[in-house]
Amino acid sequence: MTRLTNRQYFLASRPQAMPTTDNVQRRDVPLGPPGDGEVTLRNLFISLDPAIRGWMGDEPNYIEPITLGDAVRSSVVGRVVASNSAEFEVGDVAMSLGAWEAYTTAPAAGLNKLDESAGIPLSLFLGILGPTGLTAYFGLLEVGRPRAGETVLVSAAAGAVGSVVGQIAKMQGCRVVGMAGSDDKCAWLTAELGFDAAINYKTCGDLEAAIHGACPEGVDVYFDNVGGDILDAALLCLNKFARVAVCGWISTYNVANPPGPTNLWQLVARSVTIQGFTVLDYRDRFGEGVTQLAEWLLAGKIGYREETVDGLDNILPTFLRLFDGSNSGKLVIRIPE
Ligand SMILES: NC(=O)c1ccc[n+]([C@@H]2O[C@H](COP(=O)([O-])OP(=O)(O)OC[C@H]3O[C@@H](n4cnc5c(N)ncnc54)[C@H](OP(=O)(O)O)[C@@H]3O)[C@@H](O)[C@H]2O)c1
Repeated sequence: MTRLTNRQYFLASRPQAMPTTDNVQRRDVPLGPPGDGEVTLRNLFISLDPAIRGWMGDEPNYIEPITLGDAVRSSVVGRVVASNSAEFEVGDVAMSLGAWEAYTTAPAAGLNKLDESAGIPLSLFLGILGPTGLTAYFGLLEVGRPRAGETVLVSAAAGAVGSVVGQIAKMQGCRVVGMAGSDDKCAWLTAELGFDAAINYKTCGDLEAAIHGACPEGVDVYFDNVGGDILDAALLCLNKFARVAVCGWISTYNVANPPGPTNLWQLVARSVTIQGFTVLDYRDRFGEGVTQLAEWLLAGKIGYREETVDGLDNILPTFLRLFDGSNSGKLVIRIPE
């Protein structure tokens, strides 16, 4: 172990806009043995999530900002290469909060052991059977609270979270409309995932009119992944007593002084409930969520897209694709064994 080096991408400075190679830099550091109760993983998959951009800043967030000089925080799936804990053996596979690095050393208590024998691709535990699937599951069912016959509108609908939200809403008996940034994404939503309609928000022209057209009975649940102008348009299409589940605000993550939404007065006009949430609010129920998502997945009731890019050295440019929409579904870096 002591002769191994750990390649890391670390936060050298806080980005003011889109992160650059000035903000995120590479280094190779010696890899020591795990401490008491710790385990070292050789990372196989690193999750790329929009939330990481938030952690690069120093605004108040739901977890602490990444400390300058630390490797960029991320969820990882890796194989145990050294263990100083009775709970893990070399060769086990686990998920952990880790970083943009080849090896993650973490306390065994924070690791989630994965069962390779089930034959489920390990990367799915970072996506549909992991944080993004759980975000969709709890955010829709607990915050959006859709009822059969209602209309559910979803933004970033072809993304890792949004695509699962729409499919769960369909299983609740709802009319489901997605908004996404390309015709290919919209076609996937309606042709393969069972969405009732999809709006290409980049080409539709008047977005409010497009939402009214696709949601003739109005919107009862708006699951918002993006904020900004899309939220503003959606607010004008809500029904009385609608629920807005605020999951993310990706349209402003790289904008220094974003304008606020201007149509929040609709909350009064329509007696709307708006609630932000994070998936961590439901950490005590993750087991229930994963079991249900896995059952639906294995039964062919939910589909997904995943894009896997090989090589730790591709991590920053790949991460940036989350913000220009060129990713399709869950984005992960793979470091082949
Ligand atoms: N609350 C939580 O616990 C939690 C957990 C996970 C994720 N989230 C949030 O959920 C949202 C989606 O995350 P994800 O992991 O599923 O990512 P994702 O949707 O797979 O990827 C991001 C997508 O956002 C869209 N986008 C990017 N910039 C945009 C902009 N300026 N305006 C409108 N759309 C834009 C793009 O899709 P288009 O091509 O359609 O534009 C892009 O593909 C993010 O806001 C994230 O922060 C929250």
